[in-house]
Amino acid sequence: MSAIVNLDGRIVPPSEATVSVFDRGFLYGDSVYEVIRTYGLRPFELAAHLDRLAGSAARIGLELPWDAARVAREIAITIDASRGGDEEDPGGAPWNVRERYVRVMMTRGAGELGIDPALAVDPRAILIVRPLHGPPLAAYRDGVKACVVGVQRISPQAMDPAAKTGNYLNSVLAVREARAAGAYEALLLDRDGFVTEGSTSNVFCVRGGRLETPPLAIGILEGVTRGVVLGLAREAGVEVVEARLRPEELAAADEVFITSTVRELLPVTVFGDRVVGEGVPGPMYGRLHALFRARADATAR
Ligand code: PDD
Repeated sequence: MSAIVNLDGRIVPPSEATVSVFDRGFLYGDSVYEVIRTYGLRPFELAAHLDRLAGSAARIGLELPWDAARVAREIAITIDASRGGDEEDPGGAPWNVRERYVRVMMTRGAGELGIDPALAVDPRAILIVRPLHGPPLAAYRDGVKACVVGVQRISPQAMDPAAKTGNYLNSVLAVREARAAGAYEALLLDRDGFVTEGSTSNVFCVRGGRLETPPLAIGILEGVTRGVVLGLAREAGVEVVEARLRPEELAAADEVFITSTVRELLPVTVFGDRVVGEGVPGPMYGRLHALFRARADATAR
């Protein structure tokens, strides 16, 4: 199974899944999207993702062609159509095997060429469901390398980072720079030099037993995984601090990890040219990931 596409409520094979070159999602990134994953083929934290989709649309004044109930229904139908045909993945983490990646995209549609959103007609709703390609088990066991890149996170004044729009060039360029430095994930700073988030992840560190992460107010996406991790940490009695962090503070932290839907919690054991802590995933990471795994497993049952 490669991918199954749902185009405006019609299941089509990838070869027939096309949109107009006049679509504003293609022309200007004038669209919103979500990435959702399954456990036991059930979407995880679906309500939070649908809320964020609606929030992103409201932030850019895009009227969604489907309401939340319709999106949920179409997701279920498309996941169902994707059952079977999974390939073996010997290095895969068990929780990522035979699961699905679900991408929900809503564009403002096509229309006369021109920037004015009033020109848009024909908004599109598109779902892509394909096997989840999560990090391999080795990445959870050994950690990954992250580095700070020169590309800055677009400031909240320039464009709302809390809206998950199709305009991801900022992240594309950040990852390009990180890969050139041999790193798995790029961490972007704001213009004052504070850490914001990864190209497609939120970042956490542990200092003196406290869990720290940049605040939403700095201009980041409110990650669904970030929210789950903060909730689990607070429930477990961990002291949580949402405050600005300098890259030097992150580099000197006892532990660093990133979070995202596709990756869950992933330890960062190398930060730029420095080893983080002992160079292995730390105890707080282990504790929080175990709690997260239990939460995810409950979805699968
Ligand atoms: N995006 N920050 C940014 C800029 C992101 O693109 C993402 C994830 C996150 C983490 O959010 P969440 O925990 O809700 O996945 C943070 C998705 C996964 C993507 O574009 O692939």
